[in-house]
Amino acid sequence: MKRIKISVSKEYEVVIGNKLLDESGALVRAVCPESSTAAVISDDNVAPLYLRRLTKSLENAGFSVVSFVFPHGEKSKNAETYVEILNFLAENRLTRTDLLVALGGGVVGDITGFAAATYLRGVKFVQIPTSLLAMVDSSVGGKTAIDLKAGKNLAGAFCQPELVVCDLDTLDTLSPAFFADGCAEVIKYGVLADKALFEHLAERGQGFDREYVIGRCVELKRDYVTKDEFDTGVRMMLNLGHTVGHAIEKLSAYSISHGYAVAMGMGVVSRAAAAKGICPENCAEAIEKGLEALKLPAATAYTAKELIDPMLSDKKRAGGTVNLIVPYEIGRCGLLPTRVEELEDFVNTGL
Ligand code: GLY
Repeated sequence: MKRIKISVSKEYEVVIGNKLLDESGALVRAVCPESSTAAVISDDNVAPLYLRRLTKSLENAGFSVVSFVFPHGEKSKNAETYVEILNFLAENRLTRTDLLVALGGGVVGDITGFAAATYLRGVKFVQIPTSLLAMVDSSVGGKTAIDLKAGKNLAGAFCQPELVVCDLDTLDTLSPAFFADGCAEVIKYGVLADKALFEHLAERGQGFDREYVIGRCVELKRDYVTKDEFDTGVRMMLNLGHTVGHAIEKLSAYSISHGYAVAMGMGVVSRAAAAKGICPENCAEAIEKGLEALKLPAATAYTAKELIDPMLSDKKRAGGTVNLIVPYEIGRCGLLPTRVEELEDFVNTGL
């Protein structure tokens, strides 16, 4: 078992290991000694697999448990589900000393975190991520949100959890496509900041050492979040592949999932960076090979003309400039402020 401490406005641990669902009651009790009720929020994919075990573990640790299960998928991450959760908490008379437990992937974690940030002006919550993407990215760092009609994650709050429990065994029930989807965020950390991690992934593909890789990704994310909890500076680096990726997701009406779109985005920016002499040619080639090893695509069929418009509505845009993250070499990346009128040419060279 690995324990990684995150010290931001709140100090908490990310615990990573096998069979942790059965130990989660005791782990949660240690950080929430005064809570009596735990409201578990989950979706209809994850709840049938793990809710019973989690409930038993929480009850053994002295919590009374209530649960709210909503239909899986990004389409549920909206104001309606959010208000349903708040009403559920109020109907069950949760008080400020009680807690919420998010059991599921990124959608469950984000909406539960936002409910925790706002119910009674803030209650405690614990993240139990069951997808690879949620373990290495969305459960760590305190970003919580729901989607609005205008786009993803447009209403939210920074709210750090009390604890994150990553039970590696929950990854066994992910479909191959869903596992590959999470691999995009995993390899992103290697490209950003850790050549040894990148090489491990390129060599082992999806058979990577889960505890080492997920632990390393969480440590790297911790380093960015510790320096920039509220995402005004260096945390932006975590956006590698995302500006193009978000545009691909949007153009496909979200039929291309986040990880696949980010993988395509990483492919585009690294080829463009190589073409512009920002990184060596073999760096872009290595990134393509690494993505391939993880069964991820490195290219998109969308044209630069199509990609530009949704890229301009990216949250990271600042006036007439879009901040792209580009590789200099494997393990080292930087910010490339790109003027809107230069964007189409840049993207075109990476297609
Ligand atoms: N998912 C990117 C971040 O947490 O900043």
